[in-house]
Amino acid sequence: MGSEAPERGRGRTRVLVTGSAGMLGTELVRLFQREFDVTEADLGEFDIRDSVVTDAFVAGATPDIVINCAAYTDVDGAESDSEEAFAVNARGAGNIAAAAERVGARVVHVSTDYVFDGTGDRPYEETDEPGPVCVYGRSKLAGELAVSEAAQDALIVRTAWLYGQAGPNFIETILTLASSGRDLKVVEDQVGAPTNVRDLARTILELIAVGATGVVNATNRGWCTWFEFAREILDQAGYRDMPIEPVTSEQFPRPAPRPGYSVLSLARLVSLTGKEPRSWQDALTEYLAER
Ligand SMILES: NC(=O)c1ccc[n+]([C@@H]2O[C@H](COP(=O)([O-])OP(=O)(O)OC[C@H]3O[C@@H](n4cnc5c(N)ncnc54)[C@H](OP(=O)(O)O)[C@@H]3O)[C@@H](O)[C@H]2O)c1
Repeated sequence: MGSEAPERGRGRTRVLVTGSAGMLGTELVRLFQREFDVTEADLGEFDIRDSVVTDAFVAGATPDIVINCAAYTDVDGAESDSEEAFAVNARGAGNIAAAAERVGARVVHVSTDYVFDGTGDRPYEETDEPGPVCVYGRSKLAGELAVSEAAQDALIVRTAWLYGQAGPNFIETILTLASSGRDLKVVEDQVGAPTNVRDLARTILELIAVGATGVVNATNRGWCTWFEFAREILDQAGYRDMPIEPVTSEQFPRPAPRPGYSVLSLARLVSLTGKEPRSWQDALTEYLAER
């Protein structure tokens, strides 16, 4: 037949997503593919710890935008594997930003609420002094610095308490425990903002569209404790009568200390995009409907 295949890519913005097989990366690829030419890259394609292969891959992909979702995300594991956490989250993040800068691509990097010490009593602004209390948080803060040194106009999106269809996550853990009838104990002294990666992916798209640079906080709206999050999950999933025992972090020790309060202020995000994120409860409803 005479119809020609459309020339893919000509004139379209090219976006390279690293960590594309991860929880956020999967969702970003799905969303960005609707309007951009997306190159997916995870460990199978190249390792961001290696600056030479990172440079070569990025140069070959000739992206207009690079979004770095590749990370060492095992918060507890990082306590005994600090070298690896810093290799990926700090030096790796710097490598990818430098490689993007070399080809003139915009850099978007994803960071975390765990850069804060959690002793605050109001949502953290982007300009508040960080003070991470665990190795993962320190490695991510070092990554933010490495990225902004390599690419001065980088957009650094700080987010928190992510869940998504592509990853093992807190919601699935709670529902698995609930369906097995096991006793549920959940910590009640850590406060944060559960965030659906679908909403975060949309927000990143909007931030790119308005040309945002520097650090921007992005989560779903509102906050809760892990205990309250678990209660809402069970209520929405039809386990209203299932009890949960609230426990303290001391009663439930983990290798990595977590910030007690890591709610991020969304004021800058709202002023940049003109949009309020959805509440964490509404975002949870959508997740549960689709799983
Ligand atoms: N999850 C959360 O609650 C949360 C909260 C706040 C901020 N964040 C940040 O959000 C971003 C995305 O998190 P996520 O939960 O989507 O992470 P994720 O599911 O763990 O995905 C990270 C991806 O990066 C890959 N990766 C690891 N080391 C790599 C390397 N050296 N080179 C290339 N790729 C590598 C991983 O591959 P393997 O799986 O094979 O290792 C994985 O596919 C990260 O920057 C994270 O720090 C996450």
